[in-house]
Amino acid sequence: MLVRDASGVIDQLSTRGSTMSTSSTPLPGGTWTAGDLTLTRFGYGAMQLAGPWVVGPPADHDGALAVLREVVDLGITHIDTADAYGPRVTNELIREALHPYPESLHVVTKVGATRDERGGWPPARRPDDLRRAVDANLESLGLDALDLVNLRMGNAEGPVSGSLAEAFETLVELQRQGLVRHLGVSNATPEQVAEARSIAPIACVQNVYNLAVRQDDELIDELAEAGIAYVPFFPLGGFTPLQSSALSAVADRVSATPMAVALSWLLQRSPNVLLIPGTKSAAHLRENAAGAGLVLSEQDLAELDQIGR
Ligand SMILES: NC(=O)c1ccc[n+]([C@@H]2O[C@H](COP(=O)([O-])OP(=O)(O)OC[C@H]3O[C@@H](n4cnc5c(N)ncnc54)[C@H](OP(=O)(O)O)[C@@H]3O)[C@@H](O)[C@H]2O)c1
Repeated sequence: MLVRDASGVIDQLSTRGSTMSTSSTPLPGGTWTAGDLTLTRFGYGAMQLAGPWVVGPPADHDGALAVLREVVDLGITHIDTADAYGPRVTNELIREALHPYPESLHVVTKVGATRDERGGWPPARRPDDLRRAVDANLESLGLDALDLVNLRMGNAEGPVSGSLAEAFETLVELQRQGLVRHLGVSNATPEQVAEARSIAPIACVQNVYNLAVRQDDELIDELAEAGIAYVPFFPLGGFTPLQSSALSAVADRVSATPMAVALSWLLQRSPNVLLIPGTKSAAHLRENAAGAGLVLSEQDLAELDQIGR
């Protein structure tokens, strides 16, 4: 059950899983608790801070630092990153802008892919690759332990079936050693999510999902039942911004931007959905944080539901 007060703040959310969301933030959606991590459901995806196509430094270094400081000023406690962004660039910006980190801030990273000279994302999931990647994230972020690490499966085109056991067990071992606190999986098939859960508890799944890409509808509901967060990447369409006449029609009717409607729809989709919209603009960040709290009507939701069907 989702209840908002007049300002759009969520007062109470309950799921049948063990994880609770409550309001301890003015950000839209309230918070989600994963073990000892309290994550604002409105988070921030840092990938777009690197240069074009996530390679090299940003055109505006100081602007990137300002966006990250604004993230914290807004009260966001969930930043999503990866050492492969840049590579290293995004993590180093996060460290430069925010280290020593506020206690409430959780920087979530991922391992399992590296970068090649053409900007590609070749998989790197052998045990040695993963140990190196965890070390690289610790070093570039300036941390002794990583709060949450996602094992990124598949490739740039999407999930690819096949066992993740060896890779995931390597991360479980790094967790036992205290280098990683919580585990998740990313770009994964439902079968891989189930396989990971059979090996060790997971805190989240991070897959592509938005108004137009609905392949994980069943998975989201299943994870909600189990109290596991679902973190959609490309919530605004990623490199190809969401464009739909149905989305524009709803946005016009509620006097909001399509971005605000797309984010609000995700927050209303299920209480276990956590947002990590990306932007290199502090103005867009503020706009998204303000806009994601729209309460969409049954009619709005029904029209939006048709987009990805
Ligand atoms: N696990 C994985 O394999 C994986 C893959 C991809 C991404 N991710 C994560 O998911 C996060 C989100 O994905 P994303 O950043 O690529 O895509 P996104 O959040 O869907 O969209 C970001 C794009 O939307 C634009 N935008 C944002 N707010 C806007 C606004 N208010 N008005 C107009 N344009 C706006 C941004 O441009 P401006 O910069 O100009 O605002 C940027 O081009 C990433 O940052 C990353 O952390 C994970």
